[in-house]
Amino acid sequence: MTLERTLSIVKPDAVQKNLVGAVLAKLEAAGLRIVNTKMMRLTVGQAQAFYAVHRERPFYESLVTFMTSGPVVVSVLEGENAIARNREVMGATDPAKAAEGTIRKAYAESIERNAVHGSDAPETAKAEVAFFFSGCDL
Ligand code: CDP
Ligand code: MG
Repeated sequence: MTLERTLSIVKPDAVQKNLVGAVLAKLEAAGLRIVNTKMMRLTVGQAQAFYAVHRERPFYESLVTFMTSGPVVVSVLEGENAIARNREVMGATDPAKAAEGTIRKAYAESIERNAVHGSDAPETAKAEVAFFFSGCDL
């Protein structure tokens, strides 16, 4: 049994469409517990830093513009194999390839406006949680 923590973001497209509750409900139903959560509007600098791993990719600039276009809801989720579990319930990056029942299948508009972010590995989960929350929040 591996109790893990991961970082989740409800992206601006889903917040704009009043889907915060629906998205968090799907995460909770998948066995993920919300340890802490907050709504915030990312600055351009924060979005650039958060997605720095993608800075050479053609979609980077557009992604930063999208992620700063409105508020997001950032959460720390905990559960057994939380990182993989979250990725599973999120579905594939491209909603056209996402499985039935996943958040992206249900709510994503496009490969960019795809409703949610989730950490992809233990190291990135640790770094992404620390990016948004300090020790005393958790
Ligand atoms: O979010 P995920 O880990 O599934 O995908 P990623 O490959 O780490 O890409 C990060 C984000 O960049 C995606 O969630 C999309 O919002 C965006 N993206 C895009 O706009 N166009 C692509 N071809 C790939 C990703
Ligand atoms: Mg990723």
